Amino acid sequence: MRFSSRLKGVDESATFKYSRLAKERKMINLTIGRTGFDTPPIIKEATKKALDEGKVHYTPTKGIPELRKAIARKLVEENKIQNLDEEHVLVSVGAKHVIYEAVMSIIQRGDVVAISNPSWVSYESIARLSEGRTAWIPLKPENGFIPDDDFYAVLEDSKPRMILINSPNNPTGAVYPEKAIRKVVDIAERNESIILSDEIYERIIYEGKHFSAGSIYEDTITVNGFSKEFSMTGWRLAYAASQNKEIIEKMDIIQAQTVSCAVSFIQYGALKAFTEEARRDVMKMIAILKKRRDCLIDGMKKTRAVMEKPSGAFYVFPFFEGADDIELADKLMDEGVGVIPGSPFGSAGHGCLRMSYGDAEIEDLRKAVDILKGII
Ligand SMILES: Cc1ncc(COP(=O)(O)O)c(C=O)c1O
Repeated sequence: MRFSSRLKGVDESATFKYSRLAKERKMINLTIGRTGFDTPPIIKEATKKALDEGKVHYTPTKGIPELRKAIARKLVEENKIQNLDEEHVLVSVGAKHVIYEAVMSIIQRGDVVAISNPSWVSYESIARLSEGRTAWIPLKPENGFIPDDDFYAVLEDSKPRMILINSPNNPTGAVYPEKAIRKVVDIAERNESIILSDEIYERIIYEGKHFSAGSIYEDTITVNGFSKEFSMTGWRLAYAASQNKEIIEKMDIIQAQTVSCAVSFIQYGALKAFTEEARRDVMKMIAILKKRRDCLIDGMKKTRAVMEKPSGAFYVFPFFEGADDIELADKLMDEGVGVIPGSPFGSAGHGCLRMSYGDAEIEDLRKAVDILKGII
């Protein structure tokens, strides 16, 4: 049967594939792109109430105004993105779909989409679906996968229509310093590029400070959501915001013609994500994640991994010189530890493993490192 050429080279997400295998075989599971915590009760209760109150119908395509207002307020006050109100915000069914809508509205055949190497697996697939050309911009393990001069030079040369940045980062856990983001913005300005800043791990930072490109560059689409911070991956809720309202209007056309709107009662529940109570639950989760990260880093020091301490998200991305990451991940699986090989994240991921501590207890992390030490 003939299928669209748009799908050429777009496969099942490697992260889902390895997660599925790890779950089927019941092992120490370091493959998962989420935490193992529950959603804060205050959000769950408000969602149930909305359902009971009959909030079961279509909402405006961009989302309910109350939620968009709360998001705009957060972005102005915390992220220092100016000139934003609810008209500059679009709520949708998960950050993945928001990114899809953004790329589909901007990119046409042949346009360059610059993504860092390594990158979260879906960026390249989404760029392919839009028929854009991917420019891989190199990052290095010895710099902790933080942009350096090579990165800026290749980015500038790529003449990108769109630049995708992601800090804190999946798969590396790196948190980009403000000066790195400013350099990316300089390049975007010179090339009249649109920046898509994926800030889904914004709150999960252990050292350093988050800086939003949208605070200094109008043609930025800031993407964030509820999946990671509030352990709501199954709820499917996220948002995009831009000072450039036209971009949001175009994304809204795709939204209206595809999913119509995000789930109604979930949007009402998410209003409670902006309360002190939800924030306290998140802070407790981050304290636990930090302990896990420290444990994993300590253990990895005893291996030959090349790795800087990652300051955010819940991933480590160690590099093992000369190792075949796929073989290594398969061997670890045979020994009862599920991880994701680095190469699906880009050629710079060769020899790397992505290990998630989002849903692993300290004891399991210790065991996993011992098994790794025995293999590598
Ligand atoms: C960097 C990054 N962006 C976006 C997403 C997608 O998040 P959502 O669950 O909101 O679609 C993920 C999920 O793994 C991610 O790691």
